[in-house]
Amino acid sequence: MALVVERQGGAAPASPLTVERFLADGFALRPQLASFLQIAPQELERRLPSSTDDLAALHPGAFDPDRVEQFYEDAVGTGHLLELAAWHLGSADYIADTLRLQQRFAAGQVLDFGGGIGSHALAAAALPQVEQVWFVDLNPHNRAFVEARAAELGLAAKLRCFRDLADPALPPRFDTIVCLDVLEHLSDPARQLEVFAERLSPAGIALLNWYFFKGFQGEYPFHFDAPELVEAFFRTLQSQFLEVFHPYLITTRAYRLA
Ligand SMILES: C[S@@+](CC[C@H](N)C(=O)[O-])C[C@H]1O[C@@H](n2cnc3c(N)ncnc32)[C@H](O)[C@@H]1O
Repeated sequence: MALVVERQGGAAPASPLTVERFLADGFALRPQLASFLQIAPQELERRLPSSTDDLAALHPGAFDPDRVEQFYEDAVGTGHLLELAAWHLGSADYIADTLRLQQRFAAGQVLDFGGGIGSHALAAAALPQVEQVWFVDLNPHNRAFVEARAAELGLAAKLRCFRDLADPALPPRFDTIVCLDVLEHLSDPARQLEVFAERLSPAGIALLNWYFFKGFQGEYPFHFDAPELVEAFFRTLQSQFLEVFHPYLITTRAYRLA
């Protein structure tokens, strides 16, 4: 399905943010990131391959599990932009399936919680059945980058960025909640599920995944993996939400309120 998005002011060409377009160029991710970081394209290519290791190298010095929000807000800086860009470009087929899933379910008021570099928020904003996307992320560089991307892609009117869910400008309820590869970064993911249950509209859908594992080579040192935290997460998930079948063979799941 081709989704044609009109540019603000009408001067620039329309931008169809299809899954195919994501597979082709990640929604112009490389030039947008080089421009945002004010580095040459060659420098971006040099830095992308080591971005996961560079982020992991912040651990344990900068990562305090008791002050995890401070880590994502202050310590990570632009490191997550590079790491997420390398991942979305290098695992584009996987990300594309999550975009297909989002396209199937997203409608109305969409929350992208922990939205990172904005691939899902931008694609959602380009869907005609989506009225507004609310991008929430603690990292100010991520928010600034996604705001710049939305403006460049003609989507600024449909995508707004916020630090956290307490902002009174956000709607009380969302028709769709997208929270991908975020829950394992939270010190209390069960509590986050309760917040999602409170903020999901009665007929709404939440798209969630998680990876409570530090990696076979310890490559994800920031992921929480304590058994009691994981058990509390699944108890809350299973008491508050009911899974909705979807046909994509990926770890991301769709839920409605139980
Ligand atoms: C691994 S990234 C995932 C990004 C994106 N959802 C994706 O699928 O590519 C985790 C994101 O969650 C954000 N984050 C971590 N803790 C958060 C919190 N408490 N509230 C909002 N965002 C948070 C980080 O800044 C980061 O952008």
